[in-house]
Amino acid sequence: TGAFTYDPGFTSTASCSSNITYIDGENGRLYHRGYSIEDLAENCDFMEVCYLLLHGELPTRGEKADFESSITYHTMLHEQMLYFFRGFRRDAHPMAVMVGAVGALSAFYHDSTDITDPHQRMVASHRLISKMSTIAAMAYKFSVGQPFIYPRNDLSFSENFLYMTFAVPTEEYKLSPVLARAMDRIFILHADHEQNASTSTVRLAGSSGANPFACIAAGIASLWGPAHGGANQAVLEMLEQIGSKDRVPEFLERAKDKNDPFRLMGFGHRVYKNYDPRAAVLRQSAHDVLDELGKRDDPLLDLAMEMERIALEDEYFVERKLFPNVDFYSGIILKAMGFPMSMFTVLFAVARTVGWVAQWKEMVEDPNQRISRPRQIYTGYGPRDFIPVDQRE
Ligand code: CMC
Repeated sequence: TGAFTYDPGFTSTASCSSNITYIDGENGRLYHRGYSIEDLAENCDFMEVCYLLLHGELPTRGEKADFESSITYHTMLHEQMLYFFRGFRRDAHPMAVMVGAVGALSAFYHDSTDITDPHQRMVASHRLISKMSTIAAMAYKFSVGQPFIYPRNDLSFSENFLYMTFAVPTEEYKLSPVLARAMDRIFILHADHEQNASTSTVRLAGSSGANPFACIAAGIASLWGPAHGGANQAVLEMLEQIGSKDRVPEFLERAKDKNDPFRLMGFGHRVYKNYDPRAAVLRQSAHDVLDELGKRDDPLLDLAMEMERIALEDEYFVERKLFPNVDFYSGIILKAMGFPMSMFTVLFAVARTVGWVAQWKEMVEDPNQRISRPRQIYTGYGPRDFIPVDQRE
């Protein structure tokens, strides 16, 4: 053993200092640069939140306009990237496409990979925020066999994303303001969440001086897992598996059984030991979207509400402070909007890119930054004699 603190899963180790996001887990509060998530979700659009995370202050009107025009300027992908998409099988998981395509950006934008140059860092940050939505929409279009739709720069970030995803070249596409607003809210609520697994991955990858496109690809890979960003897909799969309201108690019992690997997806959080404030905002959005789409009687939402109701009264969940998290509702909204389940985590990645980029930039600009190099407690053999191959048993 070495003289190190043993902290598996980093439950009590601060890996960095940061000015970006504060989570008060005990009281279920989340702040970005001092502003509460409720205020931001209610009063801002996603671009303002991106600016806030990256630059530390909410933008003035002029700053917002400049930022938006820089983001829209970068929405287009290099045409050569189309071949990259076409190399995948049509049934590839879109997250696999995202990991590959975003990593490949490093090979296309050489003029923004020098991390010692502040201008290049800024250009890379804007490119990533912008191109992620184009790549995500393309991953969807590729999976359904429809032609790619090029971005429209007269639309807002969220409108453009919905347009690139759902428009068909032969039809006029009608944008619903309610759906665009709900999409924007989902992006705002997922924008940053301090040192979660994917953000820590981005920082760890970036600590070696790797370029930002490669670091964000690493973050996407980490986000994919069902205990992290993959949970929104897992929630829907679980609701479909349960199938009807009368089977909710049976599955709650399974979730409590330590010999059963089943967990209630969309419940519990490492840091929130109270209601996830993002879930509270999205709960309302879920109702707005289902009203707008005339899907108020959606059986899955009904089932979800029943599950929430019973779990919140159940001793096991109450004792362990297991409340619904953001993924519990985002999956329901995204399904109602028409996204296939395989796209849910992709949308999380689109939103979280700004958080990853802001955290990466903060780290690179920190004069005390060093390569991340965790230590370990070695539990293997001590030194032993080598055995030649023909004497081994
Ligand atoms: N269903 C049933 N029991 C649970 C659940 C759950 N979803 N989550 C935690 N527990 C129990 C767990 O068995 C343990 O019980 P005991 O103390 O009797 O052994 C106790 O609650 C503490 O759990 P833990 O695994 O030590 O908690 P953690 O902080 O390591 O895990 C978590 C946090 C989010 C991974 C976990 O709650 C979980 O697996 N939830 C389901 C997946 C999910 O919804 N993830 C999305 C997280 S929010 C979005 C994001 O960050 O990406």
